[in-house]
Amino acid sequence: MNVYETATKRRSIRRFKDKPVPDEVLEKCLDAGRLAPSGRNQQVCEYIVINDVEVLPGVFENIGGSVKMPPEKGGPRPEQSPKAYIIVLINKAWEGDANRRRISHYDVGMAAENIILVAYEQGLGACPILMFHENNLKPILNIPDTHDIALVIAMGYPDESPMAEVATDSTDGWVDDKLVRHVPKRKLEDIIHRNRF
Ligand SMILES: Cc1cc2nc3c(=O)[nH]c(=O)nc-3n(C[C@H](O)[C@H](O)[C@H](O)COP(=O)(O)O)c2cc1C
Repeated sequence: MNVYETATKRRSIRRFKDKPVPDEVLEKCLDAGRLAPSGRNQQVCEYIVINDVEVLPGVFENIGGSVKMPPEKGGPRPEQSPKAYIIVLINKAWEGDANRRRISHYDVGMAAENIILVAYEQGLGACPILMFHENNLKPILNIPDTHDIALVIAMGYPDESPMAEVATDSTDGWVDDKLVRHVPKRKLEDIIHRNRF
């Protein structure tokens, strides 16, 4: 699979096979995150990697959005819930002044996309999740006050095949009666301004 195929065929996955994700597969994703572009090369991101069946449920309870839709609306049945998470943290000690803080979340996005694409290359599905209860997750995961949670990435072997389609009037995703998720994407000609706006 080349980079273009990986970047264009990847879709967010929210229903997963009941199959554990090996440590070495997750480690390869993390290594791709580690080497992502970083503003001023400040490298504020740190990670908690989770694949322990004792820890997974507490994280699932504290995330939201479409990944928590009821099964009849395309969300996961209990056995289809995520089988691993990579929690992206910002180590505040590495951020420094306000100007540096401004760029931290760009680092998070760059690292997260590297992680997600390398996950996809290895046969995994993933979903970035910004809807999470930080105040609940921090004690569950022993995260100190020196660190903020920037993003949760849910992962596992995919048990669904969402389809990208051309967006017409709305970009809202929807689920059909076979529980296939449709993801409208804006056309290239609608978003590109060539040479001048
Ligand atoms: C910054 C960001 C935050 C997101 N937060 C959530 C979330 O909280 N819950 C969820 O189910 N999906 C979340 N998503 C996944 C988006 O819904 C998904 O990327 C979008 O619908 C496009 O689908 P695609 O990833 O398959 O192209 C998030 C994506 C991004 C980039």
